[in-house]
Amino acid sequence: MALEMRPFGRTGVKVSSICLGAMMFGAKTNLEDSCAIVDKALDSGINFIDTANVYSRGRSEEAVGEALARNGKRNRTFLATKVHGAMDDDDPNMQGTSRRHIIQQCDESLRRLKTDWIDLYQIHRPRSDTAIDETLRALDDLIRAGKVRYIGSSTYAAYQLVESIFIAKELGTHRYVCEQPPYNLLDRRIERELLPMAQSYGMAIIPWSPLAGGLLTGKYQRGDEPPEGSRFADQTNPLYRRRLNDRIYDVVEGLQPMAEAKGVTLSQLALGWVHQQTGVTSPIIGPRAMEQFDDNMKAVEVSFEDDELRQVNRVIRRGESVAPFYEADFGPAQYARR
Ligand SMILES: NC(=O)c1ccc[n+]([C@@H]2O[C@H](COP(=O)([O-])OP(=O)(O)OC[C@H]3O[C@@H](n4cnc5c(N)ncnc54)[C@H](OP(=O)(O)O)[C@@H]3O)[C@@H](O)[C@H]2O)c1
Repeated sequence: MALEMRPFGRTGVKVSSICLGAMMFGAKTNLEDSCAIVDKALDSGINFIDTANVYSRGRSEEAVGEALARNGKRNRTFLATKVHGAMDDDDPNMQGTSRRHIIQQCDESLRRLKTDWIDLYQIHRPRSDTAIDETLRALDDLIRAGKVRYIGSSTYAAYQLVESIFIAKELGTHRYVCEQPPYNLLDRRIERELLPMAQSYGMAIIPWSPLAGGLLTGKYQRGDEPPEGSRFADQTNPLYRRRLNDRIYDVVEGLQPMAEAKGVTLSQLALGWVHQQTGVTSPIIGPRAMEQFDDNMKAVEVSFEDDELRQVNRVIRRGESVAPFYEADFGPAQYARR
């Protein structure tokens, strides 16, 4: 089945309904395997790749840049990266959303990605200690300098995005055209406000962790240790410990019979569901290996009848979350806006 091309918000750009996430590249996935996954993704009709400066402190960007340099398909790829995460353990200015850091990191990302422009430059997290006009003006300058085509956000609250749209209007800068939130069948919080807000303002929505980092693949079973080498086997990460709570098994066990009845894997059911949600542009997949990419791609063929969607809603309600997939900075704004 040909991959659907969908409007990227109100921009006029068309992106594939699956985005290839590169978080594992340069981490658990070596360079050769990363290049092979990029090649297969582009051959399968994907034209959208997402990475971030902070993924393995630049190694993910380097792998994506190398893959696109080798296959010569940079021009037809809509390439997204992000800034905000700490790029140094000691220097407090090597992170965040200040003009200084954003402009410096953009140049670093361009170098690592072996490209002259970034199609979508995203702020990885909101920061209540940094004025939104500081961030928007820096991003606007990057667009005007020809280094960036569009700007987006990640894991913002709906109110923060609406504020950013109105501040951009007030300042006459470019605005965010896309939000990248966590969204999966363990965490449906964005249905409450973010999704309706994005539809009202014509923002693209590109969900991260559509398989909840693998929790929705069926390989984590109640009472068993996480499989060796799997993401959640790393119990030193407190975030992972919080997500791997008992309530996720109720959802997994509720969905598994549905997947069996439809003759698909649990991961295809879970990803297919996000792919089909109204208001979603492109879920971002995060394969560690080629067989996971192949399994993920079959999800685009999964469709849901209305009664099946109701069945899903009985397992996990609209807007419900059983695993915290963001702990963003939603504290009181500590800054004077101007
Ligand atoms: N904006 C943000 O803050 C943010 C945060 C996270 C991710 N992202 C973006 O979103 C992308 C996707 O995130 P994600 O990696 O968390 O997505 P995901 O699809 O929820 O999880 C992917 C992980 O699940 C496991 N998996 C995938 N398919 C499988 C299969 N068929 N069978 C068994 N296990 C399977 C693999 O982990 P193991 O095999 O290692 O267990 C894989 O790395 C990232 O690459 C990145 O671009 C953004």
